[in-house]
Amino acid sequence: MRPNRPERVTSPDPTDVHPAWLPPAAFRAVGSRHVLVYGDGPLVDTVLREARLACAAYGGTARRCADGPAAQLVLALRGTPGIAAVVRTDPAATGGLGDEGYAVTRRDEVTVVLADEPAGLLHGLFHVVRLGESAFGAPHPARAYRPVMRRRMLDHWDNVDVHPVMGQVERGYSGGSIFWRDGRAHPDRARVRAYARLLAACGVNAVSVNNVNVHATEARLLTDRLDDVAEIADDLRPYGVRVHLSVNFAAPVMVGGLPTADPLDEKVRPWWAETTARVYARIPDFGGYLVKADSEGQPGPFSYGRDHADGANLLAEALAPYGGVVHWRAFVYDHRQDWRDRSTDRARAAHDHFTPLDGRFRDNVVVQVKHGPLDFQTREPVSPVIAAMPGTRLAVEFQVMQEYTGQQRHVCYLAPWWHEVLRFTPWGDGGPTVADVAADGGGLAAVSNVGDDPFWTGHPLAQANLYAYGRLAWDPRLRPEDVLDEWIDLTFDPAASADPDLLRRTLHEIMDDSWRTYERYTAPLGVGFMVRPGHHYGPDVDGYEYTPWGTYHFADRDGVGVDRTRATGTGFTGQYPPPWSRVYESPERCPDELLLFFHHVRYDHVLHSGSTVVQHIYDTHFAGVAQVTAMSDRWATLAGLVDPAVHARVSERLAEQRRSAQEWCDQVNAYFHRKSGVPDAYGRSLY
Ligand code: GCU
Repeated sequence: MRPNRPERVTSPDPTDVHPAWLPPAAFRAVGSRHVLVYGDGPLVDTVLREARLACAAYGGTARRCADGPAAQLVLALRGTPGIAAVVRTDPAATGGLGDEGYAVTRRDEVTVVLADEPAGLLHGLFHVVRLGESAFGAPHPARAYRPVMRRRMLDHWDNVDVHPVMGQVERGYSGGSIFWRDGRAHPDRARVRAYARLLAACGVNAVSVNNVNVHATEARLLTDRLDDVAEIADDLRPYGVRVHLSVNFAAPVMVGGLPTADPLDEKVRPWWAETTARVYARIPDFGGYLVKADSEGQPGPFSYGRDHADGANLLAEALAPYGGVVHWRAFVYDHRQDWRDRSTDRARAAHDHFTPLDGRFRDNVVVQVKHGPLDFQTREPVSPVIAAMPGTRLAVEFQVMQEYTGQQRHVCYLAPWWHEVLRFTPWGDGGPTVADVAADGGGLAAVSNVGDDPFWTGHPLAQANLYAYGRLAWDPRLRPEDVLDEWIDLTFDPAASADPDLLRRTLHEIMDDSWRTYERYTAPLGVGFMVRPGHHYGPDVDGYEYTPWGTYHFADRDGVGVDRTRATGTGFTGQYPPPWSRVYESPERCPDELLLFFHHVRYDHVLHSGSTVVQHIYDTHFAGVAQVTAMSDRWATLAGLVDPAVHARVSERLAEQRRSAQEWCDQVNAYFHRKSGVPDAYGRSLY
């Protein structure tokens, strides 16, 4: 055991940045106690450092040896010599805790956190932080907590160079990148360390540090710019977060000087093996590669007449000796479609390309599937690929970044949406859920919404999405409203608020239903892509209708929606197993919210709700705007109850959300009124 040497206690947070869910006050309960930490290793050092920091602020003590005041919180690695004398535990009560799990018990006025591995202890500490004072209440027997998903990853779409169209961060709505600035590694390392800390506190354990569209400079991160990646890895490691890298499939040509990147070429394979060996020599705990291949202009195995199993296995083979994985994205479709051709269907593409390859991927390939068949729209069915590759490890991909859900200018708490997806049973009631498939396979991945904005996420309330993603990846059974409660209590110190109950209630009223509110004033009944082409913000009902992107709604004077049935449409419904293949095939059985995703129906088609399609469009759009107005009014009542800078930023964003919601409402309603000629049943103005 190490001596209790004094250590300089400095805040890991940069001072000019909002502390998100880890303000000093979040540590009050821990920091006002006598804390004992048992175990060794860098992550245990992190636990001790966190405890000392908290205690320096709130009057407790944190140390490594038993001498001193009676401990009120013990954080211990079970294997530590001599521990039995200090902590009475019953190992049988908790079983193996795994790499990241922990157990918590309370008796004799002492709260004990046990773990088998250092990462578990760190997660255990943050568990106690989340509980606050209630971690020091009534005694209880040991309870074990283990992550449901082994890998809980965030993918940054950050460019190293500022891209002429996409900027520093592709689809970034929070300023620049925290990792890169103007072609170089970002000089503010404290920011990256603070990020790692936030991630550990919500459960994320892997980060991919560059955009999936890998351009010329970014391709070199794999080779001569590897030091930059290593530096990020050094900053994330103390919080148990591993680094992954997006690579370009054509790297052997782009940076390796080979004439081909053909996965079956005899020089290409050793090139990947040697390059990967150099990566591991520099970053021994490197996580692996993330690849977007044959998608939206990125190169891939198709160029060489090979398939995605050939391509993914090539990289997997290079990573295998080191325990690395390749996340191979299933987001492959034809973005040069002819809009006149109603038989091609972008929704079918991932299933068409990937399911024939099931069983051919190596063990360390994770096929990363977007949760819906299209592209992170406000509402989509669950991707049928998730139910169709039993012989492949699948990861499900979410988008925390709000590309199609208001771009962090609109309040849109996405946890209810993810929760719905994760709970979905692709084989019907009682069968495995999407979360089960991901847990058995490659876990969860999500596009990060973080940038170098002082609030991290542009919209301060969008921090809740990042927090909730980590928590749901750790445990998909958590209820979104409970996760929001955790986030509120951590972020807005209840002890410092004049009326914490009002604050909590109001934030719930604003956020709980905000995704559905967003859906109401934007795209109705599962229709997607009614957005401005290019930047994807604001309404443009026909913006993508006659383009090659495969994103159509087919509205005409009689009706709207995409016929994806087997009987008369693209046959997409046939990609689902029963019962969903039958449910989605039938306009009578299809859930209202997905009707136009699966069917082209007349405007007077009557929904389960009793409303006609066109009247539903009018009603929901008016209701959505009214709800945004109500949100805004509610937020105004919080002036004085939250930090003025947060209040001002959210108020400014809500004003924009209100304007934008009105614009969506007016354009969508005017469009369908003009197409259909059907007046609003309530005589409201439709322009
Ligand atoms: C969307 C997004 C792109 C991104 C792509 C992807 O299409 O608009 O910017 O590159 O998804 O997931 O690869």
